[in-house]
Amino acid sequence: MKEEIIKIKENSIKEIKECKKEKELNELKIKYLGKKGELTVVLRGMGKVSPEERPIIGSLVNEVRDELETLIQEKEKEFKKKELQEKLETENIDITEPSKKIKLGSLHPITQIIHEVEEIFLGMGYEIADGPEVEKSIYNFDKLNTPPDHPARDLQDTFYITEDIVLRSQTSPVQARVMEKQKPPIKIICPGAVYRSDSVDATHSPVFHQIEGLVVDKNIAMTDLKGTLEMFAKKCLGENTKIRFRPHHFPFTEPSAEADVSCFVCGGKGCRVCKGEGWIELLGCGMVHPSVLKNCGINPEEYSGFAFGFGVERIAMAKFGIEDMRLLYENDVRFLKQF
Ligand code: DAH
Repeated sequence: MKEEIIKIKENSIKEIKECKKEKELNELKIKYLGKKGELTVVLRGMGKVSPEERPIIGSLVNEVRDELETLIQEKEKEFKKKELQEKLETENIDITEPSKKIKLGSLHPITQIIHEVEEIFLGMGYEIADGPEVEKSIYNFDKLNTPPDHPARDLQDTFYITEDIVLRSQTSPVQARVMEKQKPPIKIICPGAVYRSDSVDATHSPVFHQIEGLVVDKNIAMTDLKGTLEMFAKKCLGENTKIRFRPHHFPFTEPSAEADVSCFVCGGKGCRVCKGEGWIELLGCGMVHPSVLKNCGINPEEYSGFAFGFGVERIAMAKFGIEDMRLLYENDVRFLKQF
């Protein structure tokens, strides 16, 4: 048996040393060390060996196996090295070849407008506030002086999660949240998504975006509101933009107004963008109603404030000349990459 093992050892060493290909080496590995390999078969015959000789034969087989394994590993390394060497010699990579262009996306037009408006108000010393889109109806309505029988609270107008939780229908609830937490002076804007139970058409969507503004301090007057909005309109829509105020009603402001801007396409003469009016309706605004201040823990005898709110889509559509609001939500790259 000993001779048999030594013969296997000699043959295998010779074959491994002479072997030229990785495939051949794998075959030799199976031939000698595999489950049915020659060494393994010898081990199976150990039953016939006398008990005294058994440990000697056993350790001889182990020795041979170790030796073959090391030899095979070395040979494998050698092959790998050779392969790499050949690759380096034959392959050439042109590192000066221009790479594939990476297509970069762009910010969505709505995001662009939000950023632009944020920049303008940050420049005027405002902070940016945030509030939940799933909102308690007490913030969306009650604290804002909008009583339970107000039409805005109708199921036709507002999405209800439960009886007292809604998808906020305006960004105005953020006003109440900020006033409850922060003592005046307050100067914030709040951009965000709002939801209304509207069906989709060219100018309506059940989800759209608003930007809310709120200033509360001592001695804030309607003139501050007008000056602020005029400044904003000029910065956002062009230096020649004029602004006009029309009386209006909102539950949370008194007095309330709607503000229009002169058409920044035709300058007020009348065109397609302003539908021949010369003016474009921009936003709702007013002086914060004393009850709203009181509801949010601010003394209306001591403080006053103004607020405003406008739709981002409307500004994006006017500024970029987009005629159908649905385009803004379809995420068609052919449309989006124009901005
Ligand atoms: N929340 C109003 C709306 O969605 C817009 C608005 C009007 C906001 C007047 C205000 C405001 O802050 O003072 O129609």
